[in-house]
Amino acid sequence: MTPTILVTGGCGFIGANFVRLIHAERPGWRIINVDKLTYAGNPQNLAGIEEGENYRFVRVDICDAPAMRQLFFEEKVDTVAHFAAESHVDRSIAGPAAFIETNILGTFTLLEAARSLWLGSSWQGNAPCFLHVSTDEVYGSLGTGGYFTETTAYAPRSPYSASKASSDHLAAAYFHTYCLPVRITNCSNNYGPYQFPEKLIPLIFNNALHGKPLPVYGDGKNIRDWLYVKDHCRAILLVIEQGKDGESYNIGGHNEKQNIEVVTTICDILDEKRGLLPTGRPRRELIAFVKDRLGHDRRYAIDPAKIQAELGWQPEMGFASGIAATIDWYLANTAWVNAVIDGSYQKYYTEMYGQALA
Ligand code: NAD
Ligand code: TYD
Repeated sequence: MTPTILVTGGCGFIGANFVRLIHAERPGWRIINVDKLTYAGNPQNLAGIEEGENYRFVRVDICDAPAMRQLFFEEKVDTVAHFAAESHVDRSIAGPAAFIETNILGTFTLLEAARSLWLGSSWQGNAPCFLHVSTDEVYGSLGTGGYFTETTAYAPRSPYSASKASSDHLAAAYFHTYCLPVRITNCSNNYGPYQFPEKLIPLIFNNALHGKPLPVYGDGKNIRDWLYVKDHCRAILLVIEQGKDGESYNIGGHNEKQNIEVVTTICDILDEKRGLLPTGRPRRELIAFVKDRLGHDRRYAIDPAKIQAELGWQPEMGFASGIAATIDWYLANTAWVNAVIDGSYQKYYTEMYGQALA
């Protein structure tokens, strides 16, 4: 039997790229996309994918336990790719409550729904798999040397990373306690098409395009390890198809960059593609060093040796070509960018799906 995969958060950045990958490359799979459509969820991210035998969209909160249970049973879900989360560190500092709700309680609700279906005596479907998508931020912050491996102790330092760490622990506990077939992936920072412009790369792109100041936190020397989103999605698919239950896999492409380097690269590419600013000056002059983020983690860096050795995963996109491709995508999709920036994407889905869920 071909899988029925429940994708949570499929209207967000990585979830949408994943739905597109599965839809294109696993045409027989039935995809159930569960998304609450928070500010970060945009149905336009899946424009062109129509409802039908192989795709269903359900607008619901993953914290809604009866709804989740009903959906698992009704659709006989055998695979879960759990992306839905509150995902922005700055928002978690300003208001952690939604992170605790969605990231911890939402994950718990899904684990319970999966447990009651798959471990019930009547389950006769495919061998199930619950893939919990997580982040390298659960490991805390590195100094100048070393890498995060799957055995690095968890030391989350923001409300966001603490909520993701909690959900990882819950997922792992369901494997150890109940033998629920859970797999966990911990990935580094993603970039690419459909990323919400509150995150560094699309925010800097948009401000630089329009000649606005480019806010760089602190001294700009914090390091992130960037991975093109499609490489992440391919890794997740590989772990679903070939990974082992109870295991976690670190995903990263050895693309460590200081933030200032990322920002100047975007400026230089835009200068080349769009010409200098109307003042005749290069975009680098828009850089504004601003107050640092509270508790700002200094460096993240993934050691992906395990997924490379055990599953043969390799990233296909290096940073130079990935950032150029990303900028080309944003330049070619200004209608998408503008709708997100001016908020009209929310008007669109409010008309389609009703008011925001409480
Ligand atoms: P995103 O913020 O772009 O999208 C999140 C999606 O989840 C949105 O569509 C939103 O509507 C949905 N959602 C939020 N709360 C929900 C709820 N209660 N019920 C149902 N749907 C809800 O996030 P993203 O950047 O695509 O990240 C996806 C996952 O990947 C997250 O779990 C995140 O922790 C993880 N991750 C992200 C990165 C990154 O660089 N963005 C890196 C590693 C791991
Ligand atoms: P972000 O994209 O928010 O991802 P994360 O915090 O999950 O790593 O930020 C990436 C890095 O860029 C992080 O070190 C914070 C920094 N940053 C800025 O300097 N300016 C900005 O406007 C933003 C959004 C982030």
